[in-house]
Amino acid sequence: MQKDFNDGYSEHIPVLLDEVLDYLQVRPGKKYIDATFGFGGHSQAIIKKGGTVLGIERDEQTIREAKKRLHISKQEQKRLTIVHGSYEHIDTIAVREGFGTVHGILFDLGYSSWQLDKSGRGFRFTGNEPLDMRYEPNLQHRTAAEVINRNSREALTELIMTYAEEEQARRVADALVKNRPITTNTHLVSVLESVFGVHQRRNIARVFQAMRIAVNNELQVLTTALPKARSLLDVGGRLAVITFHSLEDRVVKRYMVRTESVEFSIVTKKPVTASYAETVRNSRAKSAKLRVAQKI
Ligand SMILES: C[S@@+](CC[C@H](N)C(=O)[O-])C[C@H]1O[C@@H](n2cnc3c(N)ncnc32)[C@H](O)[C@@H]1O
Repeated sequence: MQKDFNDGYSEHIPVLLDEVLDYLQVRPGKKYIDATFGFGGHSQAIIKKGGTVLGIERDEQTIREAKKRLHISKQEQKRLTIVHGSYEHIDTIAVREGFGTVHGILFDLGYSSWQLDKSGRGFRFTGNEPLDMRYEPNLQHRTAAEVINRNSREALTELIMTYAEEEQARRVADALVKNRPITTNTHLVSVLESVFGVHQRRNIARVFQAMRIAVNNELQVLTTALPKARSLLDVGGRLAVITFHSLEDRVVKRYMVRTESVEFSIVTKKPVTASYAETVRNSRAKSAKLRVAQKI
């Protein structure tokens, strides 16, 4: 049952929830780390199954919003620890919080529906919001507007080629430079429409994605975190990662393949995707891919 709060926002729907619970083999008394706590959808379900969870979340405002919406009893709350921090430091955070050895770790990458729709940080196309895109505005310095307005044409071309895999990266960078300063999401959309045409939402979304990845250094942070996560797993413990675009999926796949037979056995030979029914309920699930590996 979804409940609206006074900001009109309904809960973030956790993606591939049943699959995550199955693949993580959640059992009472075992410890788990949710490296991207968000609104706690996955954590809550693990707790309901008797697990104990350390949730890590980079966005302090998300933690405040999530706490208002958690549906767990006082008793269950004792099995949940939420820490404000980046999963880049998952090893030190976990050891500090008494989660030095765990049965399963989940990464559900990217942003939440709340961040997209309600954070006002320019993740979406509408609403004339400042072009921010930082997950943690209090601790990160560089906004998406600064990335666009301060980088050279060449650096922007490279960034858009790498993080959006956009063939017209040079044209996009030219348009960005010509229209600077660009300080709002709607201004960025109109500049991108001038390059791609008004109905090319996919191309526009990919450039937004590129800015978000650059602002939050997402691929580097993920690359750093995966081996750290492995070091926290018990033998037989599982690492589950949900990705939403090919760049992050590639990082996860390469890591799992590289470490296969030595550190991990791969549980999902092909990535698990959402059922049709789930994609009807939650369109975000359409691009989700779940990969799971077990520590050996
Ligand atoms: C897709 S949402 C997770 C949703 C969550 N599984 C749920 O069901 O509510 C991803 C979350 O990861 C957070 N995040 C992004 N980068 C992070 C990082 N480096 N460390 C910790 N959290 C991060 C985002 O702020 C966002 O809240």
